[in-house]
Amino acid sequence: MDKQVTITINGLAYQATVDTTMTLLQFIRDEAGLTGTKSGCENGECGACTVLLNGKPVRSCIILALEADGAEILTVEGIATDGALHPLQQAFIDHSAVQCGFCIPGMLVASKALLGRYPNPSETQVMEALGGHLCRCGGYKAMSEAIQSLKQ
Ligand code: FES
Repeated sequence: MDKQVTITINGLAYQATVDTTMTLLQFIRDEAGLTGTKSGCENGECGACTVLLNGKPVRSCIILALEADGAEILTVEGIATDGALHPLQQAFIDHSAVQCGFCIPGMLVASKALLGRYPNPSETQVMEALGGHLCRCGGYKAMSEAIQSLKQ
């Protein structure tokens, strides 16, 4: 069965008629064409598909597009503004926190949410925020240092 939804992603409203089984991840990638959000396990386990839904980090692979009808979504593409990297993106570069890069969109989105909540996060808070995200390169230490470099 199909339903019409309107989901605002990075400030732009996307309207589409979707199958009721379509996930938010599929909507973001296939309807909006924003492929920065990655599809990993598609089971809520790896964190690659993390986006902010009304300001809160969620796994978009286990949320239906229908459930996000009317919501505001922020993806990794929405982090940079006016062509300038977000300080988090620059810090990840400066700390060599990016290896294969597959987990990075989810890590950046989760880090942005963390800093929004705790401008001066402890190492424990950083590790808790990143803990549910799988990085097969094992880059957690560099990512933690990058995030902590932005403490105010
Ligand atoms: Fe969604 Fe892994 S793809 S948690």
